[in-house]
Amino acid sequence: MATQIDVTIKQGAGTLTLRKPRVAEIGAVRALFADEVRAGRMLPRAPYEIRNHRDDWLVVVEGGLVLGCVSLVFYGEGLCELRSLAVDPSQRGRGLGIMLIRGAVELARKQGMRRVLTLTRAVPLFEQAGFCRDFVANFPQKVWRDCRPCPFRHRCDETALIYDLDPPAGSHNGKDCAE
Ligand SMILES: CC(C)(COP(=O)(O)OP(=O)(O)OC[C@H]1O[C@@H](n2cnc3c(N)ncnc32)[C@H](O)[C@@H]1OP(=O)(O)O)[C@@H](O)C(=O)NCCC(=O)NCCS
Repeated sequence: MATQIDVTIKQGAGTLTLRKPRVAEIGAVRALFADEVRAGRMLPRAPYEIRNHRDDWLVVVEGGLVLGCVSLVFYGEGLCELRSLAVDPSQRGRGLGIMLIRGAVELARKQGMRRVLTLTRAVPLFEQAGFCRDFVANFPQKVWRDCRPCPFRHRCDETALIYDLDPPAGSHNGKDCAE
């Protein structure tokens, strides 16, 4: 499935581009979250895995430098997971994280997904992007694939949130969470 996100935004004196990563940028993408992986806060992503699924990744680039990244992982039945969100520590607080989340939601929509799941410690950031709190137990695909083998499963401090791209009439629409 081809990525259809390629956005250029003027910000101050610079130009930010949100697009699919190039093969030559895979090392820079992995470097963005290498410290988080070492600290056990993010799951590792192998170079071949990124290379084979570049259509499911977005990077934000400025002046030729990769400043942030995000990816989608697909579970079937219209469900995907937003994963591997990271912004270079020197660039945090500029709105790049929220830009990547919104880009990933748009990518999921263009790929025909109905719901975007995420597990995160950055709950307010995702709520600001329109995600609603949920329970990981509602997503057995995620539990079987990642949580069961995870060494931190008995002391997981992440919260599940969901963005509904196709809300039934009358329910929340990814912006207004149900009580
Ligand atoms: C989380 C992360 C991607 C945020 O990137 P960022 O570019 O600094 O985020 P933004 O500038 O878009 O922040 C948008 C808002 O979210 C808030 N926010 C940012 N990071 C947050 C966090 N870790 N927890 C809670 N809120 C956060 C900001 O305060 C900001 O709110 P404001 O608009 O009211 O000021 C970045 O801190 C990072 O790479 N962290 C390490 C990896 C990580 O934790 N990834 C998320 C795992 S799913």
